[in-house]
Amino acid sequence: MKIVSVVGARPQFIKCAPVSRTIRKHHEEILVHTGQHYDPEMSEVFFEELDIPKPDYNLGIGSGTQGEQTGKMILEIEKVLLKEKPDIVLVYGDTNSTLAGALAATKLHIKVAHVEAGLRSFDRAMPEEINRVITDHISNILFCPTDTAVMNLKNEGITEGVYNVGDVMVDALKYNQKIAEEKSTILQDLNLNPKEFLLATVHRASNTDNIKNLSSIVEAFSDVETTIVFPMHPRTRKYLKEYNLWEKILKNTKVIPPVGYLDMLKLESNARKILTDSGGVQKEAYMLGVPCITLRDNTEWVETVEEGWNILTGADYEKIKHAIENFEGTKRRNEVFGDGNASGKISQKMNSGKT
Ligand code: UD1
Ligand code: UDP
Repeated sequence: MKIVSVVGARPQFIKCAPVSRTIRKHHEEILVHTGQHYDPEMSEVFFEELDIPKPDYNLGIGSGTQGEQTGKMILEIEKVLLKEKPDIVLVYGDTNSTLAGALAATKLHIKVAHVEAGLRSFDRAMPEEINRVITDHISNILFCPTDTAVMNLKNEGITEGVYNVGDVMVDALKYNQKIAEEKSTILQDLNLNPKEFLLATVHRASNTDNIKNLSSIVEAFSDVETTIVFPMHPRTRKYLKEYNLWEKILKNTKVIPPVGYLDMLKLESNARKILTDSGGVQKEAYMLGVPCITLRDNTEWVETVEEGWNILTGADYEKIKHAIENFEGTKRRNEVFGDGNASGKISQKMNSGKT
C-alpha cells in the first residue's frame, strides 16, 4: 500500500513515531507535515529524539484562524495527493491537520484511515470535537483506542471498518520510558526531587482564550505550597502576557519552555500529581499511575476518571485547590488503552475497511 500520513501538531508527532516505524516495514509511506506547529520545541525536537523520518513535504502553513488554517492546509495537501496518488491517507487525532488531511483525501476518493477514531467529549464548542466527528464520518478505516470509542461510533451509525487496536500512545510510552529514564537530566537541571513537585500543562482554547478561566487557574496555582513545574505552550504564554497574568504566574511556578517527549515522560513519572487540560497528558498520567487533575469540565478519556485516576475540576479555583490537596489515585489500573502493539495492528489492517 502507498500511504500518505498527515501530521502537524505536537501530539501527532508522538503518535506517528511508533506507527511510521512499523508501517514502513510493510508499506510505502510518504510523510506530510502541515506546519501547524513550527517552533523547534513544538516540532523539530520530536523528529530528532523519536527518530521520526524527515517529512517528505513540509507545507509551512503555520498559525491562523480556524478556517484560514484548515483551508490553507486542504489546498496544499490536495496538491500532494494529486501528485503522489496514494491508496490511503492516514490521519491522527483531532487537530485541524487531521480534518484537513481527511477532507482533502475523501474529496479525491482516496481512502481515509483515522488513528484515535471514536473519541467524543460531546462538547461542540471545542474545535477538536468538530474535527473528530467530521473525520470519523468520512473515514474508511477507523482505528479506535478503546471500547468506549467503538461504542461512540456505533451510536452514530458507524460500524464498518471499525477496529479497537488500542492506543498508539501506549506504544510510544512503552518504547521510550526506559530511554527517558536513562537519558533525561531534567530533574537535575531543574533541581527537583522525585514526587516533590506538581507538573502542569495548559493549552486548551477554552482555558487560554478566556480571561476568567485563565485567571482562575493562575490564582489556584499561586496559592499552592508545592512547586509547580509548568512547561508552557506558546499559546498560553501569549495569553498570559496579554491578560497581564505573566508576573503572577512566575511568582510561584517554574515556567519553562515546552519540553521534548523524553523530558516530559521523566517529569510526568516523577510528579506528585499532574494538572492538565491536555488529552495525551491525561492518558500518560493514567498509564504511569500519577493522579491527574483535569482543568476541563469534560473529557473524552472517560476511563481515566472511571478508574479513579483523574478528576475533572474545570477552571474552578476551589475545585482545583481541593483536588491538589486531596485527590489521590486509586490502586486499580487495567490496560484500558491496550497492550502497546496498536501500531502492529494498524499496519496489518491497512488493507481493510469500507470502500
Ligand atoms: C492544537 C490543536 C489541539 C492540540 C494542540 C496540541 C487544533 C484546533 N488544536 O492546538 O487540539 O491539543 O494543538 O498542542 O488543531 N503557536 C506558536 N508556535 C507553534 C505553534 C503554535 O507560537 O509552533 C502559537 C500561535 O500563537 C498559535 C497558537 O499557538 O496561534 C495556537 O496554535 P494552534 O496550532 O492553532 O493550536 P494549539 O492551541 O496548538
Ligand atoms: N508533551 C511534550 N512536551 C510538553 C508538553 C507535552 O512532549 O512540553 C507531550 C505529552 O507528553 C503528550 C503530548 O505532548 O505525549 C500531548 O500533546 P498536547 O498536550 O500538546 O496535545 P493534546 O494531547 O491535548 O492534543
